[in-house]
Amino acid sequence: IGRYILAIESSCDETSVAVVQDGSVILSNIIATQISSHQRFGGVVPEVASRHHIEQITICISAALQKAEIKKEDLDAVAVTYGPGLVGALLVGVTAAKAFAYANNLPLIPVNHMAGHIYAARFVKPIVFPSLALLVSGGHTELVYMPRENEFQIIGETRDDAAGEAYDKIGRVMGLKYPAGKEIDQMAHHGQDTFHFPRAMQNEENFDFSFSGLKSAFINTVHNAEQVNKTLNHNDLAASFQQSVIDVIVKKTLRACEEFDIRQLILAGGVAANQGLRERLSSDIRNSFPTLDLVLAPIELCGDNGAMVGAAGYVAYQYGVVSDDLTLNAEPSLEF
Ligand code: KG4
Ligand code: ZN
Repeated sequence: IGRYILAIESSCDETSVAVVQDGSVILSNIIATQISSHQRFGGVVPEVASRHHIEQITICISAALQKAEIKKEDLDAVAVTYGPGLVGALLVGVTAAKAFAYANNLPLIPVNHMAGHIYAARFVKPIVFPSLALLVSGGHTELVYMPRENEFQIIGETRDDAAGEAYDKIGRVMGLKYPAGKEIDQMAHHGQDTFHFPRAMQNEENFDFSFSGLKSAFINTVHNAEQVNKTLNHNDLAASFQQSVIDVIVKKTLRACEEFDIRQLILAGGVAANQGLRERLSSDIRNSFPTLDLVLAPIELCGDNGAMVGAAGYVAYQYGVVSDDLTLNAEPSLEF
C-alpha cells in the first residue's frame, strides 16, 4: 500500500514537495530554499520562514505533481513532516497536507523529520535491521538504534549544540555566510589541524556528544589573535575544527558499532553531506568492521527535502500510521 505518495516538508528553511513511488523511487523532489532571505540575519528567522513557506507551498505541490507526471487521482496517500522544527513553518506544511488529503480523499501520514533523514538511505538500498543511524543535522546530533523497522531508540545525543549548529556559529566568527557547513568543509580540505582543539567526551563510556566547548575554544582562539592583531590561517582553523568534530563523532559511532549487534550503519542529516566525515567514517568502518554495511545518504538528499519524508511516510503507512480525523497538529519538539 502507498504506492504513490505526495510528501511535504516545511520544518525549517526549505519548502519541499516530492512524489515518491514505493518509498524508494523519486519521481519528483521540488526544493524551494529560502536561505538567501535568512543570510543577512545570520540564521533562520522563524517569521520570515513561515511567510516563505506560505508563498511557496502550493507552487511546490503543483510542480511536484507536474514533474512526476502524475495526476492527483493516481496518488495513494499524503505524507507530511509534523515535527520537530519551527512551529510556524511546520504548520504551513501540515495545513497544506491536511487540505490536500481532505480535498482528494487521501490518507494523511504524519512523519517525524528525523525519521525522514534516516529513511533517505532507502534511496540507496533497502535498510536491514538491526540498524544504527548516525544523525547529524543543524538541530540534532544523535545515534539512533533501530532494532526493527519503524522502531527508534536514541542511545546517545548532544548535550548542547548540534554539530551543524556549531559549524554555523564558528562560520559566523570567520565571516562566512549562513549556513557555513559546506564552505568550512571545503576550507578544511585546504588546511591542517594545527590548533588541536579539544575533543569533548571522546573517551567517555557513553554515546553522547558535546560541541559547545569546541565552539568556545574556537571563538577564544580567534578573539585572542584579534587582540594582538595576529592573522590566523582560516583554512587551518576550519581543518582543526572539522578534525575535532569528526574525531569525536566517528569514535563514538565506532564504539556504538561495537556495543550493538547491528547489520547496517546509516549516515544521514544535513552534516552527513560533509566530505571529510563521509571519507573518515567509510575508511574507519572498512578497517574496524569490514562486514558492516555502511550506507551514506546521497549528498543531494542529506539536507531537508520532501523525498525523505515520502520514504519515511511509506514505511510508517505500512505500520498503520495514519491521521484520519484532520486533527494533526505541528509538534515542534517531537521526539522519536
Ligand atoms: O538537516 P539539515 O538540512 O537541517 C536540519 O534539519 O537541521 O541540516 C543543516 C545543517 C546546517 O547546519 C549546515 O551548515 C550543515 O547542515 N551542513 C554541513 C554541510 N552541509 C550542510 N555541515 C558540514 N559539512 C557540510 N558539507
Ligand atoms: Zn533536517
